[in-house]
Amino acid sequence: MTSPFNFQNKNVLVVGGTSGINRGVAESFAKSGARVAVVSRSQEKVDDTIDSLKKHGAADSKGFAADVREPDVIKQGIEALHGEWGDFDVVISGAAGNFPALATGMSANGFRSVVEIDLLGTFNVMQAVYPFLTKPGASIINISAPQAIIPMVGQSHVCSAKAGVDMITRTLCLEWGAEGIRINSIIPGPIDNTEGMKRLAPNEKIRNLVIKSVPLQRMGTADDIADACLFLASDFAKYISGAVIPVDGGWAQGGVAVVGAALASVLNDSKS
Ligand code: NAP
Ligand code: COA
Repeated sequence: MTSPFNFQNKNVLVVGGTSGINRGVAESFAKSGARVAVVSRSQEKVDDTIDSLKKHGAADSKGFAADVREPDVIKQGIEALHGEWGDFDVVISGAAGNFPALATGMSANGFRSVVEIDLLGTFNVMQAVYPFLTKPGASIINISAPQAIIPMVGQSHVCSAKAGVDMITRTLCLEWGAEGIRINSIIPGPIDNTEGMKRLAPNEKIRNLVIKSVPLQRMGTADDIADACLFLASDFAKYISGAVIPVDGGWAQGGVAVVGAALASVLNDSKS
């Protein structure tokens, strides 16, 4: 299928864009002709992704290594990118951490590490990019998760953090809308071959349960999420802001609870 989207002469930043879903998103913007920059903690992963973005057709590709929990480092890196390219037209924020653990099976630091990466990290990225957004016209997309709306056993940290991420989306829609900045969240369903699903569906039995629990009867791909990002970042979505959009084959309508039940049995078995 030929892409209807053209992002030539656009500057795109993907935070957490060096693996999995977000890397797929970054590569799709590269295919659409954008200049694309990525950020994550590992310099090696950043370098590898910069090469891949070039191969996928990016007009230019850059990146820097930083932890979203360090606001000053994130600010400096984004300011430096802005110095080279100018204002950002599209920002995708999706750095995240997850591990399955019951609330009684994680320390305060374990809970904090996920909340700091997902929620505080999103806040840090939003604050850092704001001065450098195209106004009017910028589109921000926060990558959320089903746990933001559906409680799941073994996910108290992620549920809390991602619910907060969606509230940042909705609040900044109010605060920044008058300047012509749109901001939305995407809630991916279960996406195959990702770190996230390796952690949540750690064996073939749970994987098959997950597939059967999706109304469209398949796991998603990074391309499914990338297509939604391209749409949301394009003029076709020019009146969409403050939306929290599941891109999940219908999973949020009920099937997602299956993972919680399966995780509960794994975590409770390991307790006894
Ligand atoms: P992933 O491959 O582990 O990607 C996470 C990315 O974030 C990596 O680039 C990682 O690179 C970066 N990162 C992690 N901690 C960071 C930090 N403290 N500072 C900066 N960068 C950091 O995960 P994924 O499964 O594709 O998930 C991607 C996004 O989709 C996440 O927001 C996740 O919550 C969401 N999601 C995933 C699924 C799924 O099925 N996988 C479903 C729903 C939602 P470094 O290690 O180099 O830092
Ligand atoms: N069960 C219980 N606690 C756990 C745990 C688990 N499976 N895994 C980590 N923790 C705890 C650690 O014990 C530590 O707490 P402590 O200091 O009280 O012992 C705390 O979490 C932080 O761990 P640490 O490894 O120091 O954190 P980090 O900042 O280096 O890494 C994580 C953050 C834990 C989220 C790590 O898994 C990560 O980097 N994930 C990124 C990739 C990812 O999760 N992808 C999926 C995205 S959906």
